[in-house]
Amino acid sequence: MTQIIAHRGNSAVAPENTLPAFAAAAFGGSDFIEIDLQVGGDGSAVVIHDASVDRTTDGAGIVAEMLATDMKYLDAGSWFDPAFAGTALPLFADVVDLLGRFPEVGLLLELKGAWRPEPTMAVLTQIREAGLTERVLAQSFEVDMLRTLQTLAPDLPRALLVREITGEALTTCAELGAVACNPSSASVIAEPSAVARVHDAGQQIFTWTSNDPDEWAPLVAAGVDGIITDRPDRLAGWLATQ
Ligand code: G3P
Ligand code: CA
Repeated sequence: MTQIIAHRGNSAVAPENTLPAFAAAAFGGSDFIEIDLQVGGDGSAVVIHDASVDRTTDGAGIVAEMLATDMKYLDAGSWFDPAFAGTALPLFADVVDLLGRFPEVGLLLELKGAWRPEPTMAVLTQIREAGLTERVLAQSFEVDMLRTLQTLAPDLPRALLVREITGEALTTCAELGAVACNPSSASVIAEPSAVARVHDAGQQIFTWTSNDPDEWAPLVAAGVDGIITDRPDRLAGWLATQ
């Protein structure tokens, strides 16, 4: 069964990386919610994709230089639609709370950049104390970030994000003890045998980011374990017809 992974939540119907997008994903039948996590200037973990708040909030500035107490009052909804005016930029703690309301949904947690041990430990403690270790799959493009996780939380499942499945990517995934090796959808559509190579290595494969049946069909035919999509509700409907 192909897993449905809501990219930044159901980011087609609500502003990306906000609680409304996550709730829409959960209510719409997603198996996982994917979020992007970054470190603020005070070491806080904030849910945002870009290095700056400019595109997705009414503020301006670099996330790594801003305080959570300032960022959490930004409007992260109006840029998407005036109907979402006043939607807050979430902290990681807000996502932990939300997952408590949706016990069937997992979290695909992308850590952006390479974090220092202190903020990493703070997030890992939140995950452990909330009893979420088995519902979280941590992923990153940064090998060093995954090495840090491997050291600090060896029991937390982790995945490496890559552009495509190469021999080097498979070697790195194995060295990291990754449970999944996650390439772009385009690379798998171009080279479907990549799925078997990942499976033969004992890992799963979740591809990003596909929003249409034209891409879902070859990905499902190739045997991917999950599809990361901005349209999880649409993917759920399409999968039901297969
Ligand atoms: O989950 C994979 C995907 O989110 C990686 O790309 O830029 O959307 O974070 P990006
Ligand atoms: Ca992401």
